[in-house]
Order: sequence, then structure tokens, then C-alpha cells
Amino acid sequence: MIHFAAASESPVQTKEVRVSVKKNFYSDNVSGAAPEVLAAIVAANAGDTAPYGGDLWTERLQERFAELFENEVEIYPVGTGTAANGLCASLITAPYGGIYVSDAAHVHGSECGGPEFWSGGNARTVPLPTVDGKIAAADLARAVEESGARSADVPPRAISLTQATEVSTVYTLAEVKSLADAAHARRLWVHMDGARFANAVARLGCTPAEASWKAGVDVLSFGATKNGALAAEAVVFFDRALAETMRYRRRRGGHLFSKMRFLSAQLEAFIAKDLWLRNARHANAMAQRVREGLARIPGVRFASPTQINFVLVALPQPVWDGLVAEGYRFSRRGALSEGIVRIACAFDTREEDVDALVATAHRYEGTRQGADRAAPATRR
Ligand SMILES: Cc1ncc(COP(=O)(O)O)c(C=O)c1O
Repeated sequence: MIHFAAASESPVQTKEVRVSVKKNFYSDNVSGAAPEVLAAIVAANAGDTAPYGGDLWTERLQERFAELFENEVEIYPVGTGTAANGLCASLITAPYGGIYVSDAAHVHGSECGGPEFWSGGNARTVPLPTVDGKIAAADLARAVEESGARSADVPPRAISLTQATEVSTVYTLAEVKSLADAAHARRLWVHMDGARFANAVARLGCTPAEASWKAGVDVLSFGATKNGALAAEAVVFFDRALAETMRYRRRRGGHLFSKMRFLSAQLEAFIAKDLWLRNARHANAMAQRVREGLARIPGVRFASPTQINFVLVALPQPVWDGLVAEGYRFSRRGALSEGIVRIACAFDTREEDVDALVATAHRYEGTRQGADRAAPATRR
């Protein structure tokens, strides 16, 4: 269990200190919320205000996001990434049609048919092959061309890129641009699932504008929860025409929160003073530290580059067994037989947590026969 100790006696704690070592690397969602975000929620709690987004926090958010993205934007806070993606899917496929996604895309394989649900059955995700979780522009072009020959199939309407990807990689700005150009040339909308947009921007060292609309993104699911918010994400429109029916769809879908100020306050605190980037940079750095530490163990095999806050790795059996016996938790990735686990770092993962994980792994290195065999990952 993780225990936190308060660092000060003030009613709103702005700093918390973890006193026991982190062993749960299952997801970046295992962490709590950033103290700055919690403080903003408490501050927003004072007094009455207009419901359903008529409040000052939500109004202010439009300006804050316009500053952040150096552009006019329309922003709609929602409660989850799945809702953000589903709402986007419903808009970019209207009246009906296909969205090209990566074969590893969360929106395709891990949202229970969210795009279909949110669009009233009108959107269908069409997986494309990937290398390191990324779609190539040539594969998109080929898929659109082939779909033209199949008049009985749904028409292609959009592409959705996950940035950063599910396997800890990041599309370069040139890759995003070439995919967006290929999509727009074929009259497809470009959606970005930015559940970890912060981690991608931190990795790329670019501006949010460069990572989104300047590279051709029309609409972005902007993630916050995994990187320090309590429960808040935002749909950010760079193309106003696309947003026309959003307010109805969000309300109908139950994500027009009556006490919207609390979502908006989270998002405001999240982007204030670069908190979102500081958190993401830190989580990314912790994953690098994990990778460097594990790389010294014979038999360790990395399944993908570590460009954000995950390490996808096959561990030798004794190391895997030892870590599990010591209470460590990871999530399995891919086929069980491949033995790949995802080690997820978060904004609150400390260097000492990583060092303890690595030291434990080293302790079990070569302790039993078959040290160089990748472990079949067992479920949590
Ligand atoms: C890439 C990606 N997109 C979307 C989501 C969905 O977010 P939520 O769990 O808030 O619905 C996740 C969650 O893990 C994700 O990893």
C-alpha cells in the first residue's frame, strides 16, 4: 500500500511526500492527483456559481487554452479519455464512416467499441499496421485507395493518431504532418488521441501548437488525468466547423457536468506554470531510468523504444518471479507467450522508487535456471 505524509499543516496540502516505496507500476492511472490540481479543486469549491459550464473557470479555460495553443480554439472539458475519443469519433465520421487507427490504438481495442457507441453505430475504427505503434503515411494512402474499390464498405472519413503511442513511442512532427497531409488530401479529418499529449510534447521539445494544429491536427483529445488531474480531459477543436454539434453530443452523452467548474479548475491548474509539462518530463525521465537500470540485466529484451513514460520489456523468468513475489505490479502487453510487460512511470514516481525496482530486479538476476528466457507474464 502507498502511504502519503503531509509536508505541512495547511488545510490545502500543496506538497505530499511518499513514505513507502512505489511498487505498483501497472499504469500511470495508479497514481493520485497532483497537489496543485487538488488545491485548485478546493479553491473552486468556495461559493455558488452557474452550473453546466456557465462558470468563470470554464469561461477562462477558453482563453487559457487559446494562449497555450497560440490559436483560437474551442475547448470542451469531459470526464474521461474514452468520452473525448468517442465524441470526436462521432463528429469526424458524420454522417457515417470509417476512422483509420493503429492496430495498437486504445480507441480501437480498449474502449469497448466507444466510437460505435458514441456515434450511434455510425463510426467504425479500421486498424492499420504499425511499426512501433505508428502508422505510416503510405499505409494510410494505400488503405484509402483500396477502400475506393470496395463500394459496399463504409466510406473513410478520418484518421486518429495516438500521440504518444500505446507502446511508448512518439510520432515526430514530420510524421504527423505527412500523415495529416495524406489525410487532408483525401478529405479525411485528423484526430489526435492525446491521452499522453503532454508526454509527447515533453519528448519532442516542441510547442503544443507545433505538435497539433501546425502539424495538421483538426481535433485533439487532450489528456490530463493520467498526468496529474483527478478526472478531467478536454476536447480541443482547431477547426470550428467540426465543433458545431459538439455541445449537443456532449450533453446527450452525459459529459456536460453540472458542476463543470471542478473539471475546468483541474484543467486550468494542470496547464498553469507548465505543471503538465513538468509532470510529463519527470514521468518520461523515470521510464528512461528504469530502462537504463534493466538494460544491464542479461536476457532482458525491450519490445519498443522508451520515448515516454512506459518501458515495454520481456524480463527473464527469475526476475519476473522475483519482482512479483516482492509485490511489484505491471500490466501484460501483447500475447501471453511473448512475456512482455509494461512498466508505467507517473508524475509522482520517484528516483528511489525506480532504483528500488531496478535493485530488486538485479537481486533476482540469474537466481534460477533459465535466466535468459523471457517470462510468460502472468495477469495481475
Ligand atoms: C491512449 C489512450 N487513449 C485513451 C484512453 C482512455 O482514457 P480513460 O481511461 O480516461 O477513458 C487511454 C487510457 O488508458 C489511453 O491510454
